[in-house]
Amino acid sequence: MSIKIGILGLGTVGCGIVQVLQQNAVDIQTRTHCDLQIKAILDRDLQRERDISGDFLLTDQPEAVLHDPEIDIIVEVMGGIEPARTFILDALQHGKSVVTANKDLIAVHGHELLDAANAAGKDLYFEASVGGGIPIIAALKESLAANRITHVLGIINGTTNYILTAMAEQGREYAEVLAEAQQLGYAEADPSSDVDGLDAARKLAILASLAFNSRVALNDVFVEGISKITREDLTYAAELGCTIKLLAVAKHQDEGIEVRVHPAILPLSHPLASVSGVFNAIYVVGDAVGETMFYGRGAGSLPTGSAIISDIMRIARNIQSNSTSSINCTCYLDLPLKAVSD
Ligand code: NAP
Ligand code: HSE
Repeated sequence: MSIKIGILGLGTVGCGIVQVLQQNAVDIQTRTHCDLQIKAILDRDLQRERDISGDFLLTDQPEAVLHDPEIDIIVEVMGGIEPARTFILDALQHGKSVVTANKDLIAVHGHELLDAANAAGKDLYFEASVGGGIPIIAALKESLAANRITHVLGIINGTTNYILTAMAEQGREYAEVLAEAQQLGYAEADPSSDVDGLDAARKLAILASLAFNSRVALNDVFVEGISKITREDLTYAAELGCTIKLLAVAKHQDEGIEVRVHPAILPLSHPLASVSGVFNAIYVVGDAVGETMFYGRGAGSLPTGSAIISDIMRIARNIQSNSTSSINCTCYLDLPLKAVSD
């Protein structure tokens, strides 16, 4: 069976999808019993030099991708809220399943988009929206689904961890390392989302909603970024046998849910203290499973491409079995929110 894919956005992640699909084509085909083909890609810049090639249409006309009747799956990797939201709704209405890496969109409009996917009888997957290549969304939705989850805690922004690590371990300047993270394709189009903690807050809202089966909104998350952290702060922390990390914390206790993102001083002996560079680590505690830890590259072209293609492969299997995913869950507990004290 041949399944055709349309991609919206040919930047860092878009190119990673093309590359992973090409380099692992045989394994992917063997595992899905499908020939997954990229048919068309939308980008507003058709001239930019890119390290990829392939037998697909590169176009700046959204309809050429969204309304192509041969395309089964649309992958949105443009970023931002609009026109990404409108394009995803359009794709679902045109009978296509959707994969997105867009945490800005899922954190704010995820419920609307999941409702639209359910109404259309199509899939909407977003594994790459949190943790880059780490399979944390599938873990929360599937592998840990039998648990009452009490804690989700970790480092979920690669750019800020890359900056803090280079400042702490190499004494480098904040601005210089941020520019490097941008060049490596780790940072958001507007990197203030990373350094101000907003990207981590969006991811935490998604993780907490899934973990606690509730609707945790972005505005519910207490946020403080790393822009006030200096090299001196990191030196003092080191003198105390500690380091500084941007932590994301979600707890479900009897009084309600607590969700916060802020820098924290950690002893060097703490497991999260040794998570360096672009790596992310997410610690999840469930009542049945106990403690679990997920670790891997939290950003970058190929790790994110890996997560996106895992979603495409899930949809390919659903298409073959003529089903949609039963985990487009839209039933919530709506738990109370607990205030965060400083
Ligand atoms: P990127 O490098 O900026 O790529 C996005 C591409 O889409 C750019 O070529 C951009 O063109 C194009 N584009 C944006 N809006 C468009 C529009 N309206 N019409 C046509 N083309 C448009 O971004 P990225 O790093 O690949 O990230 C894409 C998405 O994945 C974002 O939602 C991001 O948060 C998410 N994500 C990224 C990573 C990562 O490591 N980079 C990891 C996980 C998730 P211009 O360059 O002209 O704007
Ligand atoms: N800007 C994000 C980060 C990309 O640095 O973690 C991955 O979501």
